[in-house]
Amino acid sequence: MNTPVIRAENLTKFYGKKMGIQNVQLQVEPGEVFGYLGPNAAGKTTTIRLLMDFMRPTSGTALLFGLDSRKKSPEIRKKVGYLPGELSLYQNLKVREILLHFAHFRQDVHWNFVEELAERLKCDLSHPIHTLSQGNKQKVGVIQAMMHKPELLILDEPTSGLDPLIRQEFYKLIMEFKAEGKTIFLSSHVLPEVERVCDRVGIIRSGKLIVVENVAKLKKKRIRQVELTLADPVKKDFFSDLKNICDLHVDNNRIRCQISGDINPFIRKIAQLRIIDFSSHQPGLEDIFLAYYGESENVL
Ligand SMILES: Nc1ncnc2c1ncn2[C@@H]1O[C@H](COP(=O)(O)OP(=O)(O)OP(=O)(O)O)[C@@H](O)[C@H]1O
Ligand SMILES: [Mg+2]
Repeated sequence: MNTPVIRAENLTKFYGKKMGIQNVQLQVEPGEVFGYLGPNAAGKTTTIRLLMDFMRPTSGTALLFGLDSRKKSPEIRKKVGYLPGELSLYQNLKVREILLHFAHFRQDVHWNFVEELAERLKCDLSHPIHTLSQGNKQKVGVIQAMMHKPELLILDEPTSGLDPLIRQEFYKLIMEFKAEGKTIFLSSHVLPEVERVCDRVGIIRSGKLIVVENVAKLKKKRIRQVELTLADPVKKDFFSDLKNICDLHVDNNRIRCQISGDINPFIRKIAQLRIIDFSSHQPGLEDIFLAYYGESENVL
């Protein structure tokens, strides 16, 4: 069997008495895109900083490429591209200068690739850092993480501050890295955004890893909040033969309900009606936690 690229064994961090994360048990395989999801203060950055050996765990260990992150940090870092959650850059340099500076410390940077990244992410290399917006600074962070085509990308909320088109381009880059056999670990607090690039996701809440699941499986369990406005009123029992519908509210021609799993039976059903408006929202992380509690063998 291949050595996992990331392995966290009972990783625990207390900041004094305050818990950062507790007993995080995690494994990421070579070539995987792993999404690390959780709301604010869940422990995403804490986990990532421990993986990167930027601080000491209270207990437990982190292994990257099978090497102890505390003992083999220099060796590991050569193979990793890292984007911190809070990026701080030298304010007085221009983007090109700062990227040249990063490239200088990496052995295997092809400047053509840096320029390609900058072009694709619409990052102007000629601007001084202190004039950049938050999103444009984030692009510089993403470029420095990817510039040496590392074996492993560890990215803490990489899309924060990026506009939708740039996000799309970023995810294209992630898929290209994956196609080259690289491993990617990225944190986020929005599942719908990362689920199309991730093979698996881990969901952390209040410092504890709650679920690790294949994205395909997660999608099967997905709950959608659906709202409909119809041209004509309908009765509640119109939907009575649907199995995966719940929380159904019918108010004349307005319908609100939740659909779990396959949405097709519901779509076929409503195709018989004249629809004025239709909306379907994906659940937040809290709903996913709820869908998992008591149901999944994978609840940790
Ligand atoms: N330096 C620190 N000192 C004390 N407590 C900290 C420190 N850093 C993090 N924490 C606490 O550890 C917990 C986890 O924080 P962490 O920054 O890892 O969360 P996060 O999931 O990255 O959140 P966000 O989505 O807001 O970035 C929080 O309760 C936070 O207050
Ligand atoms: Mg964070």
